Amino acid sequence: MPDLGDLTREIAFRWRSLARASAPAWKRVAGTWDAVEGRLDPKGRRRLRRLRSRHGETMDRWPRLLTAVEMHEAAYVLDSLEAIGCAPTGTSSPSLDVGSKNGSNLPAFAAFRPGPWDLVEIDAHRRYLTLATRRAHGERVARAYPGCRFVSGDVAALQGPYDLVTWILPFVDPGPHAAWGLPARLFDPARLLSRVTDLVEPGGTLVVVNQGEVERDLQGELFAAGGIGAASLGPIRTELSPFRRTRYAWRWDRPITGVHST
Ligand SMILES: C[S@@+](CC[C@H](N)C(=O)[O-])C[C@H]1O[C@@H](n2cnc3c(N)ncnc32)[C@H](O)[C@@H]1O
Repeated sequence: MPDLGDLTREIAFRWRSLARASAPAWKRVAGTWDAVEGRLDPKGRRRLRRLRSRHGETMDRWPRLLTAVEMHEAAYVLDSLEAIGCAPTGTSSPSLDVGSKNGSNLPAFAAFRPGPWDLVEIDAHRRYLTLATRRAHGERVARAYPGCRFVSGDVAALQGPYDLVTWILPFVDPGPHAAWGLPARLFDPARLLSRVTDLVEPGGTLVVVNQGEVERDLQGELFAAGGIGAASLGPIRTELSPFRRTRYAWRWDRPITGVHST
């Protein structure tokens, strides 16, 4: 019996990939940090002010690029990355974010690791009510950061190497994968994890963030099955989280020898 839901997702995905033209990437940018402060409790506001005092002018640009909701999420991402940390390799390789949606976390990535970033998104032609696509938004934000690119396509097609790879909410469970409108043939988390680890240069770092305990445990099984000795960093605790569900972080530093650690 054919899976009609999956057939519908396949047809819609193929149609999006053909109908690529986008309306201009317009969004109601926040203009100031006030709207974000208004979303936070006193502890969150203190945390945000500390983050802004560390990142000064870099974060002063965000209100001209992002909506208030996106700024809140990007501040959370930056705060989380600082908690996770990663050693700079000292090479000139770019950094990569996998599954970048519309690129709205680039300002956080660029604040954490200044320099060139590639943002890759397989469903880049999905569009908003304004008829602008994720890709149009991603390219708009990438233009604001010299050397950064929004790449429409499958991460498995990239060459690398990358000094730092961030992967926030990879699909490790077929339910969310289908709920986000992707056809089942694209769900192969073990193969994708292996491809992504191959993109990390020796001495470089992969950071993975999962949502909830079920996805964290599935992620742990994938690392174990692939012989990838990633460190489980536990729950991400920050007063800046806009999310109800707890997120969990992993960090894997590729050995200099290029051999997976176990
Ligand atoms: C759960 S969403 C997370 C989006 C974003 N990282 C965030 O934190 O909101 C996963 C994203 O990964 C993208 N994706 C899935 N498989 C991919 C692949 N093989 N290459 C590039 N992007 C992929 C999906 O289209 C989706 O936008």
